[in-house]
Amino acid sequence: MSHGKLWGGRFNESVSDAMEALSRSVHFDWRLAPYDLRGSIAHAHILESAGLLSPAESKSIVAELNLMITQFHDGVLLPQSSDEDVHGALERLLVERLGEVGGKLRAGRSRNDQVATDFRLFLRDAAAHVVLQLSTLADAFIVQAEKHMHATAPGFTHLQHAQPVSLGHEIAKHAHALLRDIDRLQDWDKRAAYSPLGAGALAGSALELDPKRSALELGFTDAIANSIDAVSDRDFAAEAAFIFALIGVHLSRIGEEWCLYASKEFGWVNLSDAYSTGSSIMPQKKNPDVAELARGKSGRLIGNMVSILTMLKGLPFAYNRDLQEDKEPLFDSLDTLTVLLPAITGMVHTSTFNVEVIAASAPTGYSLATEVADWLVVRGMPFRSAHEVAGACVRQCEVLGIDLDELSDAQLVEIHPMLTPEVRLVLRVDGAIAGRSRFGGTAPAAVSVQIAALKSETSRTRAWAESKLAASL
Ligand code: ARG
Repeated sequence: MSHGKLWGGRFNESVSDAMEALSRSVHFDWRLAPYDLRGSIAHAHILESAGLLSPAESKSIVAELNLMITQFHDGVLLPQSSDEDVHGALERLLVERLGEVGGKLRAGRSRNDQVATDFRLFLRDAAAHVVLQLSTLADAFIVQAEKHMHATAPGFTHLQHAQPVSLGHEIAKHAHALLRDIDRLQDWDKRAAYSPLGAGALAGSALELDPKRSALELGFTDAIANSIDAVSDRDFAAEAAFIFALIGVHLSRIGEEWCLYASKEFGWVNLSDAYSTGSSIMPQKKNPDVAELARGKSGRLIGNMVSILTMLKGLPFAYNRDLQEDKEPLFDSLDTLTVLLPAITGMVHTSTFNVEVIAASAPTGYSLATEVADWLVVRGMPFRSAHEVAGACVRQCEVLGIDLDELSDAQLVEIHPMLTPEVRLVLRVDGAIAGRSRFGGTAPAAVSVQIAALKSETSRTRAWAESKLAASL
C-alpha cells in the first residue's frame, strides 16, 4: 500500500500517473485538515468507549491529533505531493508519528462520512466569519446613515429623480440587505448542524459506535438519521453557495451605486485615496476600483453556485466521486468574500458625502409633484384626478422653464381652481421628507428609530458570530 493513499489491497497493478493526478485533491482539501483532525479526536473517543482503543491508546492518539492541529496553524504540518487527499495525508502522518496504533482510527469510518463531516465543520466556521465581516460592513453603513440622517437627497426610481429622501435613509437601506444575508447564514447554520460521522461509506457501522455522541462533541445538534443521506447530501454546500452568491449580488449593487456616486456627473462621494486607484496614463484619474471589483467579483460567486448545482443534479443519492468537486467553488467564494468585504467596509467608512451637492439636486426633476397631488387628496380630490392636476403643473413648468414653487397664483388657479397659494407650503424638500414619519418612512424621526434597531441587530449578530467562533478552533 502506498503512503498517503488509503486503498490498494485488492489491486495488482499500481495506478497510472494520470489517474493519480486526476484523483488528487490534497492541494486544495488540505485546508480541511484541522476539521478532519477534530473529527478524528471525536472518533477516537467513540472507539475508546466501544472498547476498540484502550484508554492509553486513545490518550496518545488524541494528544498527537491535538498537537497536529497546533502544528497546522503554525504552518509546519504539511502534506506530501504524493498524498491523495487530506484524509490519507493525515493518517500517514499519524502512523509515522505513533506507529501502527495510528491505523486503528480508521475502524468504523470512511472518507465518505469523514469528508462530509469536515466540510460541514469548515463551512460552519467560515459562515460565522462571514457573519462577522457582514456585521462590520453593516455598521459602516449605519455610521454613515446616522451622520447623514438630516441631509436631503433625491430618491430615485428608474435612476430618475422620484421623491426627496433623507440621505441617511438612502444609505441605511444597504444595512438591511446585509442583515438579511446574515439571517440567511444563521438559518442555514441550523440545517448544516447535523453530523454525517458514523455513516461510514454509506451503511453505518457494525461496530458499537455512537454517532450521536460524536455529533455533540463536534458541536452539531444531532447525527444525521439516514447513513446514505449523510454521505450524499450536499444541500448545505449548495445553500451556502447561494447565500454567498446573493451577498455577491448585494455587493455588486452597492458597487454600482458607488461608481455612480463617485462620477463627476453625480459628484456625491469623494473616495479616500486609500480605497481608490490611479491610472497609468491619465495622471488626473482616481478610480473606484473597490466598487468595480465588488461588481465584477459577483460573477464568480454566482458561477460557483451554478458549479455546485450542476455537479449535483445528475447524481444518485449516495457518495459519488463527483462530490469531490464540491469544495473548490465554496473555497473560492469564501476567499473572494474574505478579500472583498474588508475593502468595501473601508471604502464606505472613508467615503465623504458632498451633502450640499446632493441636497441641491433633491428638488430637481419636479420631485415634489407628488406633494401637490397629496395636498389635493387631503382636500377631497380623488388621487386619479389629483395626479392629472399635478402632472399639468409639471407640464406648465417645463414649458416656462421654472420650478413648481415658481408658478404664480394666477397660473395655479388656471390649472385648477383648488390650487390656492397655500399649496406652495408643501413644495419644500424638508417638509416632504419630514411628513413621511411613519414606520419605515424617510423622515429623520423614522430614520432614527430605524438606525437604533439596526444597531441592536448588528450587535446581536456580531455576538452570535463571536460565540460560534470562540467555540470552534
Ligand atoms: N477526496 C474525496 C472527496 O472529496 C474524499 C472521499 C473519497 N471517497 C472515496 N470513496 N473515494 O470527496
